[in-house]
Amino acid sequence: MSKRKAPQESLNEGITDFLVELANYEKNVNRAIHKYNAYRKAASTIAKYPTKIRNGEEAKKLDGVGAKIAEKIDEFLQTGKLRKLEKIRNDDTSSSINFLTRVTGIGYVLSIHIKRLHSLASLIHELCFTYLVAFRYFEEFEKRIPRAEMEKMETLILGELKKIDTDYIGTICGSYRRGAASSGDIDILLTHPNYTSQTEKQPKLLHAVVDHLESIGFVTDTLSKGDTKFMGVCQLQQSDEDEEEYLHRRIDIRLIPKDQYYCGVLYFTGSDIFNKNMRTHALEKGFTLNEYTIRPLGVTGMAGEPLLVDSERDIFEYIQYRYREPKDRSE
Ligand code: TTP
Ligand code: MG
Repeated sequence: MSKRKAPQESLNEGITDFLVELANYEKNVNRAIHKYNAYRKAASTIAKYPTKIRNGEEAKKLDGVGAKIAEKIDEFLQTGKLRKLEKIRNDDTSSSINFLTRVTGIGYVLSIHIKRLHSLASLIHELCFTYLVAFRYFEEFEKRIPRAEMEKMETLILGELKKIDTDYIGTICGSYRRGAASSGDIDILLTHPNYTSQTEKQPKLLHAVVDHLESIGFVTDTLSKGDTKFMGVCQLQQSDEDEEEYLHRRIDIRLIPKDQYYCGVLYFTGSDIFNKNMRTHALEKGFTLNEYTIRPLGVTGMAGEPLLVDSERDIFEYIQYRYREPKDRSE
């Protein structure tokens, strides 16, 4: 499965790498989602371009590559770097914001506190703690997780789930589910037949899993823990067979009501570009699709009741979208 990376994919890697870095900067630091999307779209087109790009003019012929991006490509090809990016990297504020948003989910900690009106003292305590954990593992979090290690973690996590309660359903989503050769983090979706959007919240279903994974030494730190979402750190233990010492990895576990599970699995499998295209298609067919539900749009544009969904395929069928296996969902 990990033979995905064809040799030609790295032909324009320098260019796609800097575009993705710019995209993340626009999203995390400037909150400029349109710019983020523009960079991502250009990166995605260029990644598929089968030959080595020689100049901006050539790139500009591709879908999603405008004059400004073409200029940056010229600068990069001529000088081997990009002044804009150098500046961003040297700017402490933007690199810290970028890092914190990406790695720690500080926005999530804030949202839990705002919803629950915890005391200011506990908010400060939690933020400082999150900050410390994030910095302790700074270098490890920068490294991608090889697919073989992701597979080991999947086996371990799904095995442990069944030990707690055989009714749990879990899926490792994100780039791993799309077959990527390496992943940035572990995104786990969790559900249980007793938990639906019609029942009470059941934080215990999430906490039992987190506590258990902690008790076996797999989860090592907590960045934040809410009723439905856990963000933390995990590490595989070195076994007798392998010499390798594993790094600390970022792990997110989300508990989702059973009736919303497959919309969640679809969303968190991504890619984000694929999600956007699928949502646009859904709208064209008169449906609104998000990470929770798919709902028909009435003549007034009002969304109706959520449709019944029992698999990812159901969602594709409602909107008459050709089904795509996770590995074919890069866009
Ligand atoms: P990520 O873990 O950020 O992305 P990833 O797993 O595809 O890549 P990586 O290997 O670097 O971890 O998010 C998981 C999925 O959530 C992503 O594939 C699609 C969805 N998602 C969006 O649709 N929009 C977003 O803005 C984000 C952050 C995620
Ligand atoms: Mg991921």
